[in-house]
Amino acid sequence: MIQTSDNRVIDPKEKKEDLNFDITLRPKQLRDFVGQEKIKDNLNIFMAAAKKRKEPIEHVLLYGPPGLGKTTLAHIIAQEMGVNIRITSGPAIERSGDLAAILTNLAEGDILFIDEIHRLNKTIEEVLYPAMEEYALDVVIGKGPSARTLRLDLPRFTIVGATTKVSSLSSPLRDRFGNIYHLNFYQDAEIEKIINRASEILKTNLDKLASEQIAKRARKTPRIANRLLKRVRDFAEVKADGRITEDIANQALTMLDVDEFGLDEIDRRILHIIIDKFNGGPVGLNTIAAATGEEMDTIEEVYEPFLMQIGLLKRTPKGRMATENAYKHLGLKITNPEIQNKLI
Ligand SMILES: Nc1ncnc2c1ncn2[C@@H]1O[C@H](COP(=O)(O)OP(=O)(O)OP(=O)(O)O)[C@@H](O)[C@H]1O
Ligand SMILES: [Mg+2]
Repeated sequence: MIQTSDNRVIDPKEKKEDLNFDITLRPKQLRDFVGQEKIKDNLNIFMAAAKKRKEPIEHVLLYGPPGLGKTTLAHIIAQEMGVNIRITSGPAIERSGDLAAILTNLAEGDILFIDEIHRLNKTIEEVLYPAMEEYALDVVIGKGPSARTLRLDLPRFTIVGATTKVSSLSSPLRDRFGNIYHLNFYQDAEIEKIINRASEILKTNLDKLASEQIAKRARKTPRIANRLLKRVRDFAEVKADGRITEDIANQALTMLDVDEFGLDEIDRRILHIIIDKFNGGPVGLNTIAAATGEEMDTIEEVYEPFLMQIGLLKRTPKGRMATENAYKHLGLKITNPEIQNKLI
């Protein structure tokens, strides 16, 4: 079966199979949220300060690759502040009337979570500015020369925006967020903690060495860690007595075609194209997209951040380049003098 981003087990984007699982495993409180220590420290302080002043918190923008915990944090903030959360997304708000309906139904202190906020259209953004700054909504009544604007007061609310592509956010919108946090990939030890926590919740019998193996291959991403655990658990139940030993974990992960770096066929295909067809690069994103049959956005937001994080790919002003480690990982000989001489 040819692997595409729709069926890969280590796709960090949410899949249908994750839905129930994500909800069961999603930490509800900040103290159960593993890692991202700096973000947690900041959140703790500004939430405590807001509570003390009895004010809603300032608008929060969370950005970073898929599966690292943006939605989870938004829910935690609401929970810790003791307020309601309303969930929507950039592409779901099509007309300014949709936004007006959402905003006028909020209560004081409520959180409006806007996922994929970089996909809001311009007109909606403009309605959002006064709403975010002055808690006001300007509605146009009537048409033509008799049209007039009416200003409605809104309850003081908080927007929590999430995006995997902060560079696509307009700067006026970005500037209206008082708190901006970048979620980073997790350390392997943190991923292991997340796996152990999930394993306790799911009551699986997981050996320490098995949990290390799963952690190593989870692309430093909690969502993938949970998904791999689930797949390995199924494998252990069918092929053995349910106990997840290191050996069972390795067998399951090999069957899923995830290598010891957490790379799968698509990652390897991307690296192979850069190396085999373009002598290691530099090569443009659109060329890689065309050659792999993947969307440009998907490559940029999903595959590249991780390949760069583990040092197999570099972005240069002239295009993408494979690194010395990429050649090593694939067992290939370097023929590109720039890479050979470690100039990139
Ligand atoms: N820090 C964490 N500690 C424990 N579990 C976590 C953590 N972060 C994420 N998770 C787990 O990973 C799952 C995916 O996280 P979440 O849905 O918040 O990611 P996201 O950043 O919103 O992704 P997307 O960009 O695809 O919307 C959660 O359901 C949760 O189970
Ligand atoms: Mg999310």
